[in-house]
Amino acid sequence: MGRRVLVVGGGGREHALGWRLATSPSVGAVESAPGNPGLAELGPVHAIDPSDPQAVSALADERRIDLVVVGPEAPLVAGVVDHLAERGIPAFGPVAAGAHIEGSKQFAKEIMVAAGAPTAGYVATADRDEAQAALERFAPPYVVKADGLAAGKGVRICTTIDEAREAVDDALVRRVFGEAGASLVIEEFLDGPERSLFGVCDGTDAVLLAPAQDYKRALDGDGGLNTGGMGAYTPVPGFGLDDVARLRELIFLPVLRELADRGTPYRGLLYAGLVETATGPRLLEFNARFGDPETQVVLPHLASDLGDLLWASATGSVGEVDLAWHDGAVATVVLASGGYPGDYATGVPITGVEEADALDAVQVFHAGTARDGDGRLVTAGGRVLDVTARGADVADARARAYDAVRRIGFDGMQHRSDIAAGI
Ligand SMILES: Nc1ncnc2c1ncn2[C@@H]1O[C@H](COP(=O)(O)OP(=O)(O)O)[C@@H](O)[C@H]1O
Ligand SMILES: [Mg+2]
Repeated sequence: MGRRVLVVGGGGREHALGWRLATSPSVGAVESAPGNPGLAELGPVHAIDPSDPQAVSALADERRIDLVVVGPEAPLVAGVVDHLAERGIPAFGPVAAGAHIEGSKQFAKEIMVAAGAPTAGYVATADRDEAQAALERFAPPYVVKADGLAAGKGVRICTTIDEAREAVDDALVRRVFGEAGASLVIEEFLDGPERSLFGVCDGTDAVLLAPAQDYKRALDGDGGLNTGGMGAYTPVPGFGLDDVARLRELIFLPVLRELADRGTPYRGLLYAGLVETATGPRLLEFNARFGDPETQVVLPHLASDLGDLLWASATGSVGEVDLAWHDGAVATVVLASGGYPGDYATGVPITGVEEADALDAVQVFHAGTARDGDGRLVTAGGRVLDVTARGADVADARARAYDAVRRIGFDGMQHRSDIAAGI
Protein backbone atom coordinates (compact mmCIF):
# COMPACT_ATOMS: atom_id res chain seq x y z
CA MET A 1 0.00 0.00 0.00
CA GLY A 2 1.59 3.21 -1.15
CA ARG A 3 1.00 6.67 0.29
CA ARG A 4 -2.17 8.56 -0.47
CA VAL A 5 -1.23 11.96 -1.93
CA LEU A 6 -3.37 15.09 -2.37
CA VAL A 7 -2.14 17.58 -5.00
CA VAL A 8 -3.33 21.13 -4.30
CA GLY A 9 -3.76 23.25 -7.45
CA GLY A 10 -5.06 22.75 -10.95
CA GLY A 11 -2.57 23.88 -13.60
CA GLY A 12 0.03 22.25 -15.83
CA ARG A 13 2.56 22.12 -12.99
CA GLU A 14 0.08 20.26 -10.77
CA HIS A 15 -0.84 17.84 -13.59
CA ALA A 16 2.88 17.08 -14.06
CA LEU A 17 3.29 16.57 -10.29
CA GLY A 18 0.23 14.30 -10.16
CA TRP A 19 1.30 12.33 -13.22
CA ARG A 20 4.81 11.74 -11.86
CA LEU A 21 3.44 10.84 -8.42
CA ALA A 22 1.01 8.38 -9.99
CA THR A 23 3.98 6.59 -11.60
CA SER A 24 5.95 6.51 -8.31
CA PRO A 25 6.02 3.06 -6.65
CA SER A 26 5.76 4.72 -3.20
CA VAL A 27 2.43 6.33 -4.10
CA GLY A 28 -0.85 4.42 -3.85
CA ALA A 29 -3.37 7.12 -4.80
CA VAL A 30 -3.33 10.62 -6.29
CA GLU A 31 -6.25 12.97 -5.62
CA SER A 32 -6.37 16.68 -6.35
CA ALA A 33 -8.09 19.90 -5.37
CA PRO A 34 -9.41 21.58 -7.42
CA GLY A 35 -7.57 19.55 -10.09
CA ASN A 36 -8.29 19.70 -13.83
CA PRO A 37 -9.38 17.25 -16.56
CA GLY A 38 -5.84 15.84 -16.77
CA LEU A 39 -5.64 15.24 -13.02
CA ALA A 40 -9.15 13.76 -13.11
CA GLU A 41 -7.73 10.87 -15.15
CA LEU A 42 -5.36 10.06 -12.27
CA GLY A 43 -7.85 10.02 -9.40
CA PRO A 44 -10.69 11.91 -7.68
CA VAL A 45 -10.76 15.71 -7.98
CA HIS A 46 -12.35 17.84 -5.25
CA ALA A 47 -13.98 21.20 -5.93
CA ILE A 48 -12.68 23.19 -2.97
CA ASP A 49 -10.87 26.53 -2.72
CA PRO A 50 -7.18 25.52 -2.70
CA SER A 51 -6.29 28.65 -0.69
CA ASP A 52 -8.70 27.88 2.15
CA PRO A 53 -6.55 26.22 4.86
CA GLN A 54 -9.52 24.73 6.74
CA ALA A 55 -11.02 23.26 3.56
CA VAL A 56 -7.72 21.65 2.53
CA SER A 57 -7.11 20.18 6.01
CA ALA A 58 -10.66 18.84 6.25
CA LEU A 59 -10.36 17.22 2.82
CA ALA A 60 -7.00 15.66 3.72
CA ASP A 61 -8.55 14.21 6.89
CA GLU A 62 -11.61 12.91 5.13
CA ARG A 63 -9.62 11.27 2.32
CA ARG A 64 -7.04 9.80 4.76
CA ILE A 65 -4.23 11.62 2.93
CA ASP A 66 -0.63 10.79 3.92
CA LEU A 67 1.03 13.68 2.08
CA VAL A 68 -0.32 16.98 0.75
CA VAL A 69 1.66 18.46 -2.16
CA VAL A 70 0.99 22.18 -2.69
CA GLY A 71 1.67 23.43 -6.24
CA PRO A 72 0.92 27.19 -6.50
CA GLU A 73 2.13 30.07 -4.31
CA ALA A 74 -1.29 31.43 -3.30
CA PRO A 75 -2.19 28.52 -0.95
CA LEU A 76 1.32 28.70 0.57
CA VAL A 77 1.02 32.43 1.25
CA ALA A 78 -2.49 31.81 2.64
CA GLY A 79 -1.03 29.45 5.26
CA VAL A 80 -2.32 26.09 3.99
CA VAL A 81 0.88 24.31 5.10
CA ASP A 82 0.79 26.03 8.53
CA HIS A 83 -2.72 24.69 9.08
CA LEU A 84 -1.80 21.17 7.92
CA ALA A 85 1.22 21.20 10.27
CA GLU A 86 -1.02 22.09 13.23
CA ARG A 87 -3.13 19.05 12.37
CA GLY A 88 -0.06 16.80 12.02
CA ILE A 89 -0.60 16.19 8.30
CA PRO A 90 2.70 15.98 6.36
CA ALA A 91 2.90 18.51 3.54
CA PHE A 92 5.28 19.44 0.76
CA GLY A 93 5.69 23.22 0.72
CA PRO A 94 6.80 26.02 3.04
CA VAL A 95 4.72 27.60 5.79
CA ALA A 96 3.54 31.17 5.11
CA ALA A 97 6.64 32.67 6.75
CA GLY A 98 8.80 30.69 4.32
CA ALA A 99 6.68 31.61 1.30
CA HIS A 100 7.47 35.24 2.20
CA ILE A 101 10.72 34.71 0.28
CA GLU A 102 8.56 34.85 -2.87
CA GLY A 103 5.94 37.23 -1.46
CA SER A 104 8.42 40.03 -0.68
CA LYS A 105 11.34 40.86 -2.95
CA GLN A 106 12.87 43.02 -0.21
CA PHE A 107 12.81 40.09 2.23
CA ALA A 108 14.36 37.84 -0.45
CA LYS A 109 17.18 40.35 -1.03
CA GLU A 110 17.86 40.61 2.71
CA ILE A 111 18.16 36.83 2.95
CA MET A 112 20.42 36.63 -0.12
CA VAL A 113 22.77 39.28 1.25
CA ALA A 114 22.80 37.84 4.78
CA ALA A 115 23.59 34.41 3.33
CA GLY A 116 26.40 35.80 1.19
CA ALA A 117 24.70 34.57 -2.01
CA PRO A 118 25.70 36.47 -5.17
CA THR A 119 22.97 38.87 -6.32
CA ALA A 120 22.46 42.34 -7.84
CA GLY A 121 23.17 45.38 -5.65
CA TYR A 122 19.92 47.03 -4.56
CA VAL A 123 18.03 49.68 -2.63
CA ALA A 124 14.68 48.89 -1.00
CA THR A 125 12.38 51.70 0.03
CA ALA A 126 8.77 52.77 0.38
CA ASP A 127 9.72 56.45 0.25
CA ARG A 128 9.24 58.20 -3.08
CA ASP A 129 12.04 60.76 -2.67
CA GLU A 130 14.48 58.14 -1.45
CA ALA A 131 13.60 55.94 -4.44
CA GLN A 132 14.09 58.82 -6.89
CA ALA A 133 17.44 59.67 -5.32
CA ALA A 134 18.52 56.03 -5.35
CA LEU A 135 18.09 55.85 -9.14
CA GLU A 136 21.11 58.19 -9.51
CA ARG A 137 23.33 55.50 -8.01
CA PHE A 138 22.50 53.04 -10.81
CA ALA A 139 23.26 53.00 -14.54
CA PRO A 140 20.84 52.17 -17.34
CA PRO A 141 18.98 49.93 -17.85
CA TYR A 142 17.20 50.60 -14.55
CA VAL A 143 15.35 47.79 -12.77
CA VAL A 144 12.35 48.87 -10.66
CA LYS A 145 10.42 46.12 -8.86
CA ALA A 146 7.26 46.11 -6.79
CA ASP A 147 8.02 44.39 -3.49
CA GLY A 148 4.95 42.14 -3.36
CA LEU A 149 3.17 39.64 -5.62
CA ALA A 150 1.99 41.56 -8.70
CA ALA A 151 0.95 38.71 -11.02
CA GLY A 152 4.23 38.87 -12.93
CA LYS A 153 3.67 42.51 -13.89
CA GLY A 154 5.54 44.23 -11.05
CA VAL A 155 8.99 44.44 -12.67
CA ARG A 156 9.95 47.29 -15.01
CA ILE A 157 13.22 47.34 -16.95
CA CYS A 158 13.74 50.97 -18.02
CA THR A 159 16.19 52.18 -20.67
CA THR A 160 16.19 55.82 -19.50
CA ILE A 161 16.18 57.42 -16.07
CA ASP A 162 13.02 59.37 -16.96
CA GLU A 163 11.20 56.11 -17.60
CA ALA A 164 12.55 54.76 -14.30
CA ARG A 165 11.30 57.89 -12.50
CA GLU A 166 7.85 57.24 -13.98
CA ALA A 167 8.02 53.59 -12.85
CA VAL A 168 8.80 54.73 -9.30
CA ASP A 169 5.88 57.17 -9.27
CA ASP A 170 3.52 54.64 -10.89
CA ALA A 171 4.12 52.32 -7.95
CA LEU A 172 4.66 54.65 -4.99
CA VAL A 173 2.44 57.62 -5.93
CA ARG A 174 -0.16 56.30 -8.37
CA ARG A 175 -0.24 52.87 -6.69
CA VAL A 176 -0.82 50.95 -9.94
CA PHE A 177 0.13 47.70 -8.16
CA GLY A 178 -1.89 48.50 -5.04
CA GLU A 179 -0.32 47.28 -1.79
CA ALA A 180 2.08 44.99 -3.71
CA GLY A 181 3.82 48.13 -5.00
CA ALA A 182 3.70 50.19 -1.80
CA SER A 183 7.40 49.41 -1.44
CA LEU A 184 10.05 49.01 -4.16
CA VAL A 185 13.31 47.25 -4.85
CA ILE A 186 15.59 49.13 -7.25
CA GLU A 187 18.49 47.02 -8.41
CA GLU A 188 21.45 46.65 -10.70
CA PHE A 189 20.70 45.18 -14.14
CA LEU A 190 22.03 41.65 -14.64
CA ASP A 191 23.01 40.78 -18.19
CA GLY A 192 22.97 37.20 -19.45
CA PRO A 193 20.80 34.12 -19.98
CA GLU A 194 18.29 33.23 -17.24
CA ARG A 195 18.15 29.79 -15.67
CA SER A 196 15.79 28.14 -13.20
CA LEU A 197 17.17 25.88 -10.52
CA PHE A 198 15.00 23.88 -8.10
CA GLY A 199 16.06 22.73 -4.65
CA VAL A 200 13.89 20.29 -2.67
CA CYS A 201 14.49 21.44 0.92
CA ASP A 202 13.77 19.88 4.33
CA GLY A 203 14.62 22.76 6.67
CA THR A 204 18.39 22.26 6.73
CA ASP A 205 19.38 20.35 3.62
CA ALA A 206 18.57 20.54 -0.09
CA VAL A 207 18.67 18.11 -2.98
CA LEU A 208 18.92 19.88 -6.32
CA LEU A 209 17.02 19.01 -9.47
CA ALA A 210 18.22 19.26 -13.08
CA PRO A 211 18.31 22.88 -14.32
CA ALA A 212 15.76 23.99 -16.90
CA GLN A 213 15.51 26.86 -19.32
CA ASP A 214 12.17 28.54 -19.82
CA TYR A 215 10.82 31.04 -22.33
CA LYS A 216 8.96 33.95 -20.75
CA ARG A 217 8.06 36.09 -23.76
CA ALA A 218 4.92 35.50 -25.80
CA LEU A 219 6.48 35.53 -29.28
CA ASP A 220 9.29 33.86 -31.20
CA GLY A 221 12.74 35.36 -30.76
CA ASP A 222 11.78 36.59 -27.28
CA GLY A 223 9.43 39.21 -28.68
CA GLY A 224 6.08 40.33 -27.28
CA LEU A 225 4.92 40.57 -23.72
CA ASN A 226 6.06 38.68 -20.63
CA THR A 227 3.92 35.63 -19.90
CA GLY A 228 3.73 32.92 -17.26
CA GLY A 229 6.01 30.88 -19.54
CA MET A 230 5.62 29.58 -23.12
CA GLY A 231 7.90 26.55 -23.07
CA ALA A 232 10.95 24.95 -21.48
CA TYR A 233 13.59 22.29 -21.88
CA THR A 234 16.06 20.32 -19.79
CA PRO A 235 18.97 19.59 -19.44
CA VAL A 236 20.69 22.90 -20.22
CA PRO A 237 23.98 22.51 -22.15
CA GLY A 238 26.87 24.11 -20.26
CA PHE A 239 24.96 23.91 -16.96
CA GLY A 240 25.72 20.42 -15.71
CA LEU A 241 25.21 18.59 -12.45
CA ASP A 242 28.66 19.74 -11.23
CA ASP A 243 27.57 23.39 -11.66
CA VAL A 244 24.39 22.54 -9.81
CA ALA A 245 26.38 21.02 -6.94
CA ARG A 246 28.46 24.21 -6.72
CA LEU A 247 25.35 26.39 -6.57
CA ARG A 248 23.93 24.18 -3.84
CA GLU A 249 26.94 25.13 -1.69
CA LEU A 250 27.02 28.76 -2.81
CA ILE A 251 23.30 29.57 -2.57
CA PHE A 252 20.94 26.90 -1.26
CA LEU A 253 22.74 25.73 1.89
CA PRO A 254 23.66 29.24 3.15
CA VAL A 255 20.11 30.49 2.50
CA LEU A 256 18.62 27.52 4.36
CA ARG A 257 21.00 28.18 7.26
CA GLU A 258 20.01 31.87 7.33
CA LEU A 259 16.27 31.03 7.33
CA ALA A 260 16.69 28.39 10.04
CA ASP A 261 18.71 30.85 12.16
CA ARG A 262 15.79 33.30 11.91
CA GLY A 263 13.47 30.63 13.29
CA THR A 264 11.72 29.84 10.00
CA PRO A 265 13.32 26.65 8.64
CA TYR A 266 12.37 26.26 4.98
CA ARG A 267 10.69 23.10 3.72
CA GLY A 268 9.43 22.52 0.20
CA LEU A 269 10.64 23.75 -3.13
CA LEU A 270 13.06 26.66 -3.24
CA TYR A 271 13.23 28.01 -6.78
CA ALA A 272 16.29 30.10 -7.61
CA GLY A 273 15.99 32.36 -10.65
CA LEU A 274 19.55 32.97 -11.85
CA VAL A 275 21.28 35.09 -14.46
CA GLU A 276 24.50 33.69 -15.89
CA THR A 277 26.52 36.93 -16.11
CA ALA A 278 30.01 37.39 -17.54
CA THR A 279 31.31 37.29 -13.94
CA GLY A 280 29.36 34.21 -12.87
CA PRO A 281 25.83 33.31 -11.76
CA ARG A 282 23.78 35.88 -9.83
CA LEU A 283 20.48 35.39 -8.07
CA LEU A 284 17.53 37.21 -9.62
CA GLU A 285 14.78 36.01 -7.31
CA PHE A 286 13.41 33.19 -5.22
CA ASN A 287 10.07 31.47 -5.64
CA ALA A 288 8.53 29.21 -3.01
CA ARG A 289 7.17 26.57 -5.39
CA PHE A 290 7.96 24.63 -8.55
CA GLY A 291 8.24 26.70 -11.74
CA ASP A 292 5.59 26.42 -14.43
CA PRO A 293 6.34 25.19 -17.14
CA GLU A 294 9.84 24.07 -16.06
CA THR A 295 8.32 21.38 -13.83
CA GLN A 296 6.72 19.87 -16.91
CA VAL A 297 10.20 19.06 -18.27
CA VAL A 298 12.13 18.43 -15.04
CA LEU A 299 9.74 15.76 -13.70
CA PRO A 300 9.59 13.61 -16.87
CA HIS A 301 13.42 13.73 -16.82
CA LEU A 302 13.54 12.45 -13.22
CA ALA A 303 14.00 8.69 -12.96
CA SER A 304 13.68 8.50 -9.14
CA ASP A 305 10.48 8.10 -7.13
CA LEU A 306 8.95 11.59 -6.79
CA GLY A 307 6.71 10.45 -3.92
CA ASP A 308 9.75 9.48 -1.84
CA LEU A 309 11.50 12.76 -2.68
CA LEU A 310 8.58 14.98 -1.61
CA TRP A 311 8.02 12.83 1.47
CA ALA A 312 11.68 13.35 2.42
CA SER A 313 11.16 17.11 2.18
CA ALA A 314 8.07 16.98 4.39
CA THR A 315 9.74 14.77 6.99
CA GLY A 316 13.29 16.16 7.10
CA SER A 317 15.34 13.51 5.34
CA VAL A 318 16.41 14.79 1.93
CA GLY A 319 20.02 14.00 2.90
CA GLU A 320 19.21 10.34 2.34
CA VAL A 321 17.94 10.92 -1.19
CA ASP A 322 20.11 10.11 -4.19
CA LEU A 323 18.43 11.17 -7.41
CA ALA A 324 18.71 9.46 -10.79
CA TRP A 325 17.96 11.06 -14.15
CA HIS A 326 16.97 9.63 -17.51
CA ASP A 327 19.33 9.89 -20.45
CA GLY A 328 18.35 12.34 -23.15
CA ALA A 329 16.26 15.49 -22.82
CA VAL A 330 12.71 16.81 -22.43
CA ALA A 331 10.98 19.78 -24.10
CA THR A 332 7.55 21.30 -23.53
CA VAL A 333 5.59 23.69 -25.75
CA VAL A 334 2.76 25.73 -24.23
CA LEU A 335 -0.41 26.03 -26.30
CA ALA A 336 -2.11 29.31 -25.34
CA SER A 337 -5.45 30.96 -26.01
CA GLY A 338 -5.53 33.62 -28.74
CA GLY A 339 -4.80 37.00 -27.13
CA TYR A 340 -2.86 35.63 -24.14
CA PRO A 341 -1.28 37.24 -22.07
CA GLY A 342 -3.99 39.85 -22.77
CA ASP A 343 -7.71 39.09 -22.94
CA TYR A 344 -8.81 35.76 -24.40
CA ALA A 345 -11.93 33.63 -24.85
CA THR A 346 -12.63 30.49 -22.80
CA GLY A 347 -14.95 27.53 -23.41
CA VAL A 348 -13.41 26.92 -26.85
CA PRO A 349 -13.55 23.21 -27.87
CA ILE A 350 -10.15 21.44 -28.10
CA THR A 351 -9.40 18.54 -30.45
CA GLY A 352 -6.55 16.06 -30.83
CA VAL A 353 -5.29 15.77 -27.24
CA GLU A 354 -5.78 12.00 -27.08
CA GLU A 355 -4.05 11.46 -30.40
CA ALA A 356 -1.09 13.63 -29.33
CA ASP A 357 -0.89 12.00 -25.91
CA ALA A 358 -0.77 8.53 -27.50
CA LEU A 359 2.44 9.34 -29.40
CA ASP A 360 5.61 7.64 -28.22
CA ALA A 361 7.38 9.56 -25.37
CA VAL A 362 4.74 12.34 -25.43
CA GLN A 363 2.79 13.61 -22.44
CA VAL A 364 0.18 16.36 -22.75
CA PHE A 365 -0.30 18.21 -19.45
CA HIS A 366 -3.52 20.14 -18.88
CA ALA A 367 -2.95 23.74 -17.77
CA GLY A 368 -6.17 25.65 -18.45
CA THR A 369 -8.80 23.16 -19.59
CA ALA A 370 -12.27 22.11 -18.42
CA ARG A 371 -15.08 19.76 -19.44
CA ASP A 372 -18.25 21.43 -20.70
CA GLY A 373 -21.80 20.20 -19.95
CA ASP A 374 -21.44 17.50 -22.63
CA GLY A 375 -18.08 16.30 -21.31
CA ARG A 376 -16.14 17.86 -24.19
CA LEU A 377 -12.68 19.27 -23.47
CA VAL A 378 -12.67 23.08 -23.72
CA THR A 379 -10.25 25.90 -22.95
CA ALA A 380 -10.46 27.48 -19.49
CA GLY A 381 -7.37 29.68 -19.21
CA GLY A 382 -4.61 31.60 -20.98
CA ARG A 383 -2.15 28.75 -21.00
CA VAL A 384 -4.20 25.72 -22.07
CA LEU A 385 -1.93 22.69 -22.63
CA ASP A 386 1.75 21.83 -22.15
CA VAL A 387 2.80 19.45 -24.92
CA THR A 388 5.81 17.59 -23.56
CA ALA A 389 8.13 15.05 -25.16
CA ARG A 390 11.22 13.11 -24.20
CA GLY A 391 13.93 12.52 -26.77
CA ALA A 392 17.49 11.33 -27.27
CA ASP A 393 18.65 14.96 -27.02
CA VAL A 394 17.07 18.43 -26.91
CA ALA A 395 16.64 18.55 -30.72
CA ASP A 396 14.88 15.17 -30.73
CA ALA A 397 12.64 16.12 -27.79
CA ARG A 398 11.77 19.39 -29.53
CA ALA A 399 10.90 17.59 -32.82
CA ARG A 400 8.66 15.11 -30.99
CA ALA A 401 6.91 17.86 -29.02
CA TYR A 402 6.15 19.90 -32.15
CA ASP A 403 4.96 16.76 -33.96
CA ALA A 404 2.46 16.30 -31.11
CA VAL A 405 1.50 20.01 -31.21
CA ARG A 406 0.37 19.55 -34.85
CA ARG A 407 -2.25 17.00 -33.75
CA ILE A 408 -3.97 19.49 -31.43
CA GLY A 409 -6.25 22.34 -32.40
CA PHE A 410 -8.62 24.95 -31.00
CA ASP A 411 -9.86 28.30 -32.32
CA GLY A 412 -7.24 30.98 -31.72
CA MET A 413 -4.55 28.52 -30.54
CA GLN A 414 -1.13 30.19 -30.36
CA HIS A 415 2.29 28.89 -29.43
CA ARG A 416 5.94 29.74 -29.98
CA SER A 417 7.68 27.82 -32.74
CA ASP A 418 11.22 28.32 -31.40
CA ILE A 419 11.09 26.49 -28.05
CA ALA A 420 14.33 24.55 -27.56
CA ALA A 421 15.48 25.56 -31.06
CA GLY A 422 19.18 25.76 -31.86
CA ILE A 423 20.28 24.04 -28.63
N1 LIG B 1 18.19 42.77 -11.95
C1 LIG B 1 17.69 42.37 -13.12
N2 LIG B 1 18.45 42.41 -14.23
C2 LIG B 1 17.95 42.01 -15.42
N3 LIG B 1 16.71 41.57 -15.62
C3 LIG B 1 15.90 41.49 -14.54
C4 LIG B 1 16.34 41.88 -13.24
N4 LIG B 1 15.34 41.68 -12.37
C5 LIG B 1 14.31 41.19 -13.09
N5 LIG B 1 14.63 41.08 -14.40
C6 LIG B 1 13.76 40.55 -15.48
O1 LIG B 1 12.41 40.66 -15.08
C7 LIG B 1 11.82 39.35 -14.94
C8 LIG B 1 10.90 39.31 -13.71
O2 LIG B 1 11.65 39.62 -12.55
P1 LIG B 1 11.55 38.72 -11.25
O3 LIG B 1 12.45 39.29 -10.23
O4 LIG B 1 11.77 37.31 -11.64
O5 LIG B 1 10.07 39.00 -10.78
P2 LIG B 1 8.69 38.20 -10.94
O6 LIG B 1 8.99 36.85 -11.54
O7 LIG B 1 8.18 38.13 -9.55
O8 LIG B 1 7.85 39.07 -11.81
C9 LIG B 1 12.99 38.40 -14.84
O9 LIG B 1 12.67 37.11 -15.29
C10 LIG B 1 14.03 39.10 -15.70
O10 LIG B 1 13.81 38.80 -17.07
MG1 LIG C 1 10.47 35.63 -12.00
